[in-house]
Amino acid sequence: MRITRRNFLGGMGAVGITGLIPELNGAQIIKSQRSIIAGPGRSMVMDSGNRLTDLWLYNGSLPGPEIRIKEGDHLDVHFLNKLKVPTTIHWHGIKVPNEMDGVAGLTQPAVEPGETFSYKFEVSEPGTFWYHAHTMGWEQVARGLYGPLIVEGIKDFKVDHDVTLMIDDWRLDKNGQIDETSMGNLHDWAHRGRLGNWLTVNGKSQFKKLVKINSRIRLRLINSSNARILKMELTGGVGFQVSLDGNPCNLKAISHFELAPAQRIDLMIDVGTEPLLLHDLSSREKVLASIIEPRLEFGEGLVEKNIPEITPLKSIPTNLANAIRLKVHMQGGAMGNLSKARFDGDEYSLRHLARVEKKVWAFNGVVGVYDHQLGEVPLGKMIILEVFNDTAWSHAMHLHGHDFWIRSSKQSNSNHIDIKRDTYLMDPKEKAEFIFLADNPGQWLLHCHMLEHMASGMGAVISVV
Ligand code: C2O
Ligand code: CU
Repeated sequence: MRITRRNFLGGMGAVGITGLIPELNGAQIIKSQRSIIAGPGRSMVMDSGNRLTDLWLYNGSLPGPEIRIKEGDHLDVHFLNKLKVPTTIHWHGIKVPNEMDGVAGLTQPAVEPGETFSYKFEVSEPGTFWYHAHTMGWEQVARGLYGPLIVEGIKDFKVDHDVTLMIDDWRLDKNGQIDETSMGNLHDWAHRGRLGNWLTVNGKSQFKKLVKINSRIRLRLINSSNARILKMELTGGVGFQVSLDGNPCNLKAISHFELAPAQRIDLMIDVGTEPLLLHDLSSREKVLASIIEPRLEFGEGLVEKNIPEITPLKSIPTNLANAIRLKVHMQGGAMGNLSKARFDGDEYSLRHLARVEKKVWAFNGVVGVYDHQLGEVPLGKMIILEVFNDTAWSHAMHLHGHDFWIRSSKQSNSNHIDIKRDTYLMDPKEKAEFIFLADNPGQWLLHCHMLEHMASGMGAVISVV
């Protein structure tokens, strides 16, 4: 009988149980059970103060417990809501059946206070993913409701240390509490979103990880902030990008990279004895985010430092003549060209929408999210979304249930196009095509992952039938 390791990381405050359930054909399914409770909690976010920050957390920990499973496992999460508000969990970037997608009001009713929901699905692809609240996400994620979801691949290259760095950007007041007065601020919503003033990695400022000397490390970076586009700088070693949004990509040495809200990047780094430093350069001041420090007393790395074989990428299918095209014209926000839009079936001026409804963004002239159907497409068809960011702002466009290839006016010519992502950062005025196979039936959201933009109209639904 195969027993797999199902330990939570130390101190994550959750209980993991592994069970084996027989499958009909006699083979065995590895079933990985978890219990996740959303509730009020506290953590030391601003370490210079001596007060804990009041938060909303999964299992009382910041970030939520790291769920680490193997490709092919069945995840079975028993979820309990101990908050005073309804909530749901969305499994960002993982292919799940539609009814497990966690979008309250679209794929399931919200889980009311005191109620439970059972999320069950098979995890078929390896990679770095995350889970987060998807009900009033702009508030719930900002209060701490998120955690990493790591799927180890059968063919993953060997490392001495596999390290998740979940990066967040908090807006705190001088007491180190969540700055409540800025929550729901329409000015932020019509501009870049609610940016923070305090950066953490795994809930800590200047998060430090001690490692063996001369070791090989896989770093998994996740941007869980509501709106900040991180501009990371890696010094002290050479990082090779191996995966983007959980999709393998060609090995490439990088030292500077952007990470938009919800995006992930995996790096392979061989360290010697020098510390690795990760800085964020996205604000006026350069911020030290994390230190990876080799220590002699931990011994020496054992893994062979050969060039790993990365599963070849699947490039964009060449015959797209029969693909279905859908247009997504993004408009609105401050300094935009949207003067009026449809909302709830009627047309209103943007001024009215902003003042009365707090809506400032639209796709194709319609303020979204769940009531706006972009289109119905048949299962099994190739789809091309023709996305035009006709606004003055950047947007992290995320599609649920599918990964997509990108063809963009931004790429001169492109080995780029072989990369698949689930969240793509659109520059102002950029035109791009998101190309995907509609192979997952159901109602899938397409929205901006700057969560304030989504709340104020930047989203729509694609039905795969
Ligand atoms: Cu991570 Cu609809 O989002
Ligand atoms: Cu946006």
